[in-house]
Amino acid sequence: MKKFFSVADVADLHGVVQEALSLKSSPHAFEHLGKNKTLGLVFLNPSLRTRLSTQKAAMNLGMNVMVMNMDKDGWALETQDGVVMDGTTVEHIREAAAVMGEYCDILGLRSFPGLKDREADYTEDLFNKFISYCGVPVVSLESATRHPLQSLTDLITITEHKAVEKPKVVLAWAPHVKALPQAVPNSFSEWMCKAQEQGLVEFTIAHPMGYELCEDFTKGAKITNDLEEGLSGADFVYVKNWSSYVDYGQVYPVAQSWMMDNRKLQMTNNAKVMHCLPVRRDLELSSEILDGPNSLVIKEAGNRVWAAQVVLKRMLENL
Ligand code: CP
Repeated sequence: MKKFFSVADVADLHGVVQEALSLKSSPHAFEHLGKNKTLGLVFLNPSLRTRLSTQKAAMNLGMNVMVMNMDKDGWALETQDGVVMDGTTVEHIREAAAVMGEYCDILGLRSFPGLKDREADYTEDLFNKFISYCGVPVVSLESATRHPLQSLTDLITITEHKAVEKPKVVLAWAPHVKALPQAVPNSFSEWMCKAQEQGLVEFTIAHPMGYELCEDFTKGAKITNDLEEGLSGADFVYVKNWSSYVDYGQVYPVAQSWMMDNRKLQMTNNAKVMHCLPVRRDLELSSEILDGPNSLVIKEAGNRVWAAQVVLKRMLENL
């Protein structure tokens, strides 16, 4: 594996999940693979889980890890070609990425969207340039449009906790006070659509009118604007807020209550409830669910290690 950016970078969903679960039972079985190899993690935005779980995964594989908080500690990056750099930007991504590639065998990058210019965000210009110029394998730590380590984690977690062969999985929009990117729901949807194609799940998306995701990510999903209809018979409910894709980055008022709580849980097949975290309690998801027996959020966050570890292992095997 040379790049981990989307579900398209994994041919065998079942195989990668089984390999991750095998690493979970023997975390140090491949610690020789990363000896004298260096992972660089580059963050342009904050992180708790992605940062720590990817470091832990790399350490389990015997790698050295360096973390760069580019937004706080790095030079201001210029990402456009053909500009005279006489303004606030100090270093061009061509040099910055290439230099980091000199120091590291594998790089990870987190870069959120601006949520102002849809075309700019959805072309993934910064990410693609970073991949082109750094010259080493790159793992996405969340880009403008996708969060593949989170989605792989989610598939691992569903596989571990499913009680039926082909569970009904529902991605349910939830309220928030801020405009959030579509990266997590886009990514979850494209992974679940592929899992559905492979007979692993049955996938539904429930959201209010106006919150349609880009169709590139939802092919094959059943989509409803009726939360109760979506929740009916659900085995897993994946709660997440996102801002509008159509009216890009906007947040519409929603009259009906979309926060997942114990009353709505009764409409499901005693569903397990998931969220990528961080979560705003009693706004996105009720405390009674988060603190109750149906919540998988902590186990899900724990599985971030095994998703990162299987990806890094596959990259190390191909260096
Ligand atoms: N879920 C997730 O990516 O968490 P962080 O933003 O804390 O890394």
